[in-house]
Amino acid sequence: MTPEALAALAEDALAAIAGAADPDQLEVVRRRVLGRREGALTRAGAVVATRPPPERPALGRAFNEAKGRVEVALARRSGQLQADALARSADGEWVDMTVLDTEAERGRLHPVTRVLREIEHIFRGLGYSVAEGPEVETDRFNFELLNIPEDHPARDGQDTFYLSDTLLLRTHTSPVQMRTMLGQPPPIRVIAPGRTYRRDNPDPTHFPMFHQVEGLVVDEGITVGDLKGTLLTFARSMFGARREIRLRPNFFPYTEPSMEVDVSCFVCDGAGCRTCHQRGWIEILGSGMVHPQVLRHGGVDPDRHQGFAFGMGPERIAMLKYGIEDGRELTVNDVRFLHQF
Ligand code: DAH
Repeated sequence: MTPEALAALAEDALAAIAGAADPDQLEVVRRRVLGRREGALTRAGAVVATRPPPERPALGRAFNEAKGRVEVALARRSGQLQADALARSADGEWVDMTVLDTEAERGRLHPVTRVLREIEHIFRGLGYSVAEGPEVETDRFNFELLNIPEDHPARDGQDTFYLSDTLLLRTHTSPVQMRTMLGQPPPIRVIAPGRTYRRDNPDPTHFPMFHQVEGLVVDEGITVGDLKGTLLTFARSMFGARREIRLRPNFFPYTEPSMEVDVSCFVCDGAGCRTCHQRGWIEILGSGMVHPQVLRHGGVDPDRHQGFAFGMGPERIAMLKYGIEDGRELTVNDVRFLHQF
């Protein structure tokens, strides 16, 4: 055993360390050189201990130097190999955040929400603002002020969810007309979208909770011509530029005269089809000139100001527009149904 032999062992070890291609190979090299029993350098160290004392200091220095060089080389190579492995996996696993994943499911607006937004958009374009009222209403606002007398069928306990003698879930958005008139002087141009409730047994066209959009215009010199022009503009924006409307006499306690508005069928262009039940016309809303008594209840002088009002059902419009046969689907919220729109 000589210092030169120890240095040569170290040189061999350094070459093997440099040649290790991954952490496993490096570990094999480490054991071969520094392994507790079989390591070449470990065994050389044991031999040094058996040499006669005069030889030991030089051999000991040579041994320590060889061991130190090997240990430093092992640590360096180990760090290098780990950094290489990390860089390789980073290269292989990066994600391109700019790639569009066409498989991803996107959220959609509910058909009723879409119709509500479309109605709002059309009327905002005509200069209307959006008004709101409470879903829990008083008997007075829901019925009385709207000229719906005590014995009117609309007040029948069958139709209304009463919460107490005087409180109920509003059966229509018409009470927002009263709240608006009492809250601001004419000129008034508002729509009032919102939820409404009736004690109906659910069937394809009846649901205990549904939506309405109310409209109210009060100004000087308002006539049926204004009502008709406004609703024709609305019908054409909503259902297509070629639509016509027709007004049919009807009765609502809060309008005089009252009329129902039909739009020419947007499926068959008026020729007659399944959607319009072969009639060529589809009923889309109720309307009329605001009853003078209702104006008075709202603090409006009917000799100075006149108004028209209307009310429509977004569920019904959504069913017509999207060909939905059973409107109950609109409240079930089964995504397999909703995904179609
Ligand atoms: N409130 C009526 C309903 O629930 C709809 C309606 C009809 C509203 C005529 C109006 C109107 O403002 O003038 O069926």
